[in-house]
Amino acid sequence: MKRGCNSRKRILVTGGAGFIGSHLCERLLAEGHDILCADNFYTGTRDNVVHLLGNPHFELLRHDITFPLYVEVDEIYNLACPASPVHYQNDPVQTTKTSVHGSINMLGLAKRVGAKILLASTSEVYGDPEVHPQKEDYWGRVNPIGPRACYDEGKRCAETLFFDYHRQMGLRIKVARIFNTYGPRMHPNDGRVVSNFIMQALGGEPITIYGDGQQTRSFCYVDDLVEGLVRLMNSDDSFTGPVNLGNPVEFTMLDLAQSILRHVGSGSELAFHPLPQDDPRQRCPDITLAGQVLGWRPVTGLDDGLARTVDYFRTRLCEQGI
Ligand SMILES: NC(=O)c1ccc[n+]([C@@H]2O[C@H](COP(=O)([O-])OP(=O)(O)OC[C@H]3O[C@@H](n4cnc5c(N)ncnc54)[C@H](O)[C@@H]3O)[C@@H](O)[C@H]2O)c1
Repeated sequence: MKRGCNSRKRILVTGGAGFIGSHLCERLLAEGHDILCADNFYTGTRDNVVHLLGNPHFELLRHDITFPLYVEVDEIYNLACPASPVHYQNDPVQTTKTSVHGSINMLGLAKRVGAKILLASTSEVYGDPEVHPQKEDYWGRVNPIGPRACYDEGKRCAETLFFDYHRQMGLRIKVARIFNTYGPRMHPNDGRVVSNFIMQALGGEPITIYGDGQQTRSFCYVDDLVEGLVRLMNSDDSFTGPVNLGNPVEFTMLDLAQSILRHVGSGSELAFHPLPQDDPRQRCPDITLAGQVLGWRPVTGLDDGLARTVDYFRTRLCEQGI
């Protein structure tokens, strides 16, 4: 839906060349806004947004948000941060810096120009939870010195900063706690479970299952998640979140592996490996709040989403002649 000139907003998307960010840029452009996508290409690529480069309302800026940015915008979606353990543990100090220094820089920018700002936080702020499913008022159980801490504690500190800028300086903030999201443009080799299983199934390799495969996760299709982020940004100023965005339908890792094998039509075997340190047994959002305040819930079923994601990876492999 196109908007009139008066409602055209200038929107900064940090991490806009990443998986979720590229879908968000597409969506906001389609709504008729001017998009500035800032990314240091740490895990994102120009390829993810190459189809948007010809659009006069889209601008791509190579920028690391651990450094200040001086631009005029109305809204900021702060998504910049590596999201998979493989990537965020590769340079843990930079991961914490991106969440903490990056948030300080983006909040400073929002304060200077009076912009509304949204944080892409994560279900990982709940750590290895004692309660299921997790509501927003659960404070979490995070190991502050473990290998995942750079990400979990980085995001927790980012949330703290958002709320302190809100309380101390009256900034308009929105905090989304995103649960596992999947879809086209996920990284093929980042160790995240959906892309991992699909790549292994397409390659005819064994599917890696950690532990006994009975740990559960819920998976939200990227279009649904983007819808939730946009609704959150457009919600009343009095609503800050944090709000869970995810799909509450739980699957075990074994269920997921079997669905993917079916979609790919692969005969790959299952290979069981030891559970990594601090890997949560269960992860499931309670999305009651998102339903009440944003009127949001995921609408894409796992089968439908997996079919589109498998298509994407199949096409990519064909393009690369594999
Ligand atoms: N995908 C998920 O399941 C999931 C779940 C919870 C939270 N999130 C959050 O959503 C956001 C987007 O995740 P994603 O899955 O699209 O990951 P992604 O790695 O595809 O995207 C992150 C983007 O941020 C960029 N980036 C990283 N550090 C940067 C920096 N210092 N300056 C500028 N750009 C930087 C990367 O190059 C990349 O394009 C992240 O903040 C992540 O923590 C994602």
